[in-house]
Amino acid sequence: MIAASISDYRALARRRLPPFLFDYIDGGSYAEVTLRRNLADLEAIALRQRVLTGVDQVDPSTELFGRKVALPVALAPIGLAGMNARRGEVQAVRAADAANIPFCLSTVSACPLDEVAAAASRPLWFQLYMIRDRGFMRDLLEKAKAVGCSALVFTVDMPVPGSRYRDYRSGLAGAPGIAGSLRRGWQAMRRPGWAWDVGVKGRPHQLGNVAPVLGANSGLEDFFAWMRDNFDPSVSWRDLDFIRQTWGGPLIIKGILDAEDAAAAADAGADGIVVSNHGGRQLDGVPSTARALPAIAEAVGDRLTVLADGGVRSGLDVVRMLALGAKGVLLGRAWAYALAGGGERGVAHMLRLIEAEMRVAMTLTGAGRIADLGRDSLVAPHP
Ligand code: GLV
Repeated sequence: MIAASISDYRALARRRLPPFLFDYIDGGSYAEVTLRRNLADLEAIALRQRVLTGVDQVDPSTELFGRKVALPVALAPIGLAGMNARRGEVQAVRAADAANIPFCLSTVSACPLDEVAAAASRPLWFQLYMIRDRGFMRDLLEKAKAVGCSALVFTVDMPVPGSRYRDYRSGLAGAPGIAGSLRRGWQAMRRPGWAWDVGVKGRPHQLGNVAPVLGANSGLEDFFAWMRDNFDPSVSWRDLDFIRQTWGGPLIIKGILDAEDAAAAADAGADGIVVSNHGGRQLDGVPSTARALPAIAEAVGDRLTVLADGGVRSGLDVVRMLALGAKGVLLGRAWAYALAGGGERGVAHMLRLIEAEMRVAMTLTGAGRIADLGRDSLVAPHP
């Protein structure tokens, strides 16, 4: 199959990955209501077609946290995504760097920070969770500084992990020890391409950043147990001081869905926020990000940089998010599917698709530059 869209890469990923990895990326929490809302609400937003506007030069570049980037997008932090292809985060960062857009490495990535930073030609963003062991957090932040990360994405919507039924069914969650290993091993054997590329040639299979604390037990079987046992649900706005003291660079708070929380983030001195419901993977039943975004952008858009994610599967969706008030968009599942479907080349191709689709949408909404996109680019009424 030749991939012509992100949904084609999703189909390729489904064919190529063992189900426990595909379902981890693809799935949401509980009945996946919010996951579906993210897609449906974004898709329902009607772009306002304008013609004969004379827009013949479209420039989709912009600036994010002081860096000139080719597109208003960044690759979102995704746990375990590096398992989708051999040393996957290394492949993805190369594609992001070549396209000149930021790559954000997850705390629970497969490849560790130093491995990814060594492969990168531009500064990474690094994502952090509030972890009970503040010493571990401090060490990670110091490492992020040492390898030259240019922004810290602090995720706040996962004080406890949401329950994802698909992960229980696939054996990624709730199946510790030999039983889980056998179930996952059986699934891997039925995907020989993946088994060779990642299972055999892509070792070690670890949570690279967490391995120093988990030691030999940092394999996949400990993924959920580690998150459940180590994330700190007592985290509050006061804890940001701790991060601020250790991290001097741009701070982006990810997981905001409410205008009051957005204002609190601005009061706390954040440089940016990501309007996000964690891709529908946390509290099922909350609104889509497309629905939450306009009020948040209106409340704080002049105080910090508002980014958004959730349900973005094309360049048109990027344009929709910008028209709703975001200054940039995080692409999550899009790159995880493309990495599974085509490795580094797949991610590079996915970014070219996003750019081409954005260019068409910008031309036909009469927006020559990113700053021209706004509510006028949409047909009213919209969510
Ligand atoms: C981790 O961030 C996850 O959503 O599984």
